[in-house]
Amino acid sequence: MGSVVVVGAQWGDEGKGKVVDRYGERADWVVRYQGGNNAGHTLVVDGETTILHLVPSGILHERVKCAIGNGVVVDPEILLKELEKLDKRGIKTAGRLFVSYGAHLIMPYHRRLDLAREAYRGVDKIGTTGRGIGPAYEDKIARRGVRVADLLDRARVDGLVRSRLKELNAILAANDDHVPYPDAEITQMIDRAVELGERLRPYMANVGERLYQDQRAGKNLLFEGAQGALLDIDHGTYPFVTSSNTVASNAATGAGLGPGVLQNVVGIMKAYTTRVGSGPFPTELNDALGERLRETGKEFGATTGRPRRCGWLDLVALRYAVRICGIKEVAVTKLDVLAGLDELKVCTEYRLGNERLCTFPDNVHDLDRVEPVYKSFPGFGEVGATRRVEDLPAAARTYLDFVTQDLGVKVALLSVGPGRGQDIEVHNPFE
Ligand code: IMP
Repeated sequence: MGSVVVVGAQWGDEGKGKVVDRYGERADWVVRYQGGNNAGHTLVVDGETTILHLVPSGILHERVKCAIGNGVVVDPEILLKELEKLDKRGIKTAGRLFVSYGAHLIMPYHRRLDLAREAYRGVDKIGTTGRGIGPAYEDKIARRGVRVADLLDRARVDGLVRSRLKELNAILAANDDHVPYPDAEITQMIDRAVELGERLRPYMANVGERLYQDQRAGKNLLFEGAQGALLDIDHGTYPFVTSSNTVASNAATGAGLGPGVLQNVVGIMKAYTTRVGSGPFPTELNDALGERLRETGKEFGATTGRPRRCGWLDLVALRYAVRICGIKEVAVTKLDVLAGLDELKVCTEYRLGNERLCTFPDNVHDLDRVEPVYKSFPGFGEVGATRRVEDLPAAARTYLDFVTQDLGVKVALLSVGPGRGQDIEVHNPFE
């Protein structure tokens, strides 16, 4: 028993929420450590769908405590709305959810900047979720951010917001399209932040210390990654990435712990590949097959509703994710979506001119020029009702064995449908 990190092994939307919900029953804590409400974790329990953007997916298990670590960027408006929604469904969050004093806040001007920057980039836009994630992390790195703890002191919020908007207003004033924030609106923004801070006060906590003490006492920690390895700010397909480190090692930093606590890493991978937003995607299918995956897999963003780009499984990208995240086991999701296809393809290498690449190119820009090399597999029929590996169609097992042997990882879980319980557990990652 120990601590497990659940991390997206592709470009996000791998089904982490469902897997975290599955493992939640074994965890004492479920911890978010990076990203913000750009994430959207869809959970289907007893036919009822819940989409969580900030609150860790473990909240649906009554016994579990949830933490939002210092590495997360928190939009207090969104967090409070999510808490209200959970409350209406009879899910208690008081005394179960703890928000780090050190987490940075997403302020209204971050959202505005995010949208304005994307509009300014035009065709080169990143395709962000428009939630202000990038600008909030920018302010954190620039040492001018507003943190959760600051909300408890009106004078501090006032000073931080006014000094930030003084600079921002000068930039806005110099740009014909953008109106600077009037003083009355700045005051309103400060009032609102303080009001939200009061409502969040009972949830504020020294998250790192609580996790540390409980981990030493033998409790199980489950770290819930957001986005995916290929969207990591350092290791992803820059600049088409999110603004935080999504890799598993950041689970420690983003929660206020050291790396030694991370005992196992489970990479979540779809049985095929999807991506939302711009950026390279070598195995993308811009044809009827891609459309079929999108329709069958309901591949529309949980946060923005945007259609996801769909394509074949990419082992070159997954090998890279295994390396940068230290993935030991995988949970393969949406296996059922592939059912009924005559032929399945897996990208085993990239062709780059005369070269063959079996790992991600050193120069990310080469991704624009690579051609995927595929290995074909026979398709398989329905798997949605299967609950034991032995009962899977032989062709599905061949497909999975090839992939996991290539990656050098064990299978922990196979997900064969969206609902709770629609899966096949092969190994318990806490053991
Ligand atoms: P941002 O995180 O909103 O700045 O968006 C940067 C990139 O990450 C865009 O391509 C988004 O579509 C993508 N992204 C952010 N969050 C998620 C997520 O939870 N799932 C999938 N893609 C995401």
